[in-house]
Amino acid sequence: MSHRIGVLLSGRGSNFEALADSIAAGRIPGAEIVLVISNREDALGLQRAAARRIPARVISSKGLQREAYDRLVVSELQRARVELVCLAGFMRLLSPYFVACFPQRILNIHPSLLPSFPGLEAQRQALEYGVKFSGCTVHLVDENLDAGPILAQAIVPVRDDDTDETLSARILAEEHRLYTEAVRLILSGRYRIVGRRVIALANEL
Ligand code: GAR
Repeated sequence: MSHRIGVLLSGRGSNFEALADSIAAGRIPGAEIVLVISNREDALGLQRAAARRIPARVISSKGLQREAYDRLVVSELQRARVELVCLAGFMRLLSPYFVACFPQRILNIHPSLLPSFPGLEAQRQALEYGVKFSGCTVHLVDENLDAGPILAQAIVPVRDDDTDETLSARILAEEHRLYTEAVRLILSGRYRIVGRRVIALANEL
């Protein structure tokens, strides 16, 4: 039986595309992206889904309270029998209701070494702070912003001549690689969670 993945996005969708490429190339055994949901109808990720003939839907959050919106999204995911939810540039905080519907089955990718620089424009925050190393993080999602146990991280050195764009581009390349690794680990089930620590069992990651 395949592992049914739902992807939530708000924009460009390059992390979604990287996951789709990895699945097509057999790098995430048994996985299938069965649904893409965007809260924005102008998200480029929707076109990327259409080009791959992956079902995609816009669910607008206009005028809806957080939980009311999340109930709509969760019911679509459940209808598609999604087992794992991957946030890929989905710029909304999830309600406790949403999180409880998919316990330890929601992943997010963030362009910094969490817990440094959560929230918007993480790459710019890192540059302005003056760190010498940044990177990206894939973590399990809870109801707090860019929090939850860390599954995988990758380090990207900051260069003296970096701009927001150049640093973001190098981090993005690592994001694309890292998300695949993290999804493969979760779907393999070969890990255990001790407190906040996600411990990969032998031969994973
Ligand atoms: C990515 O850099 C992702 O890490 C970030 O949004 C971008 C989406 O790009 N997510 C966050 O900042 C979450 N807090 P994409 O649409 O091309 O995948």
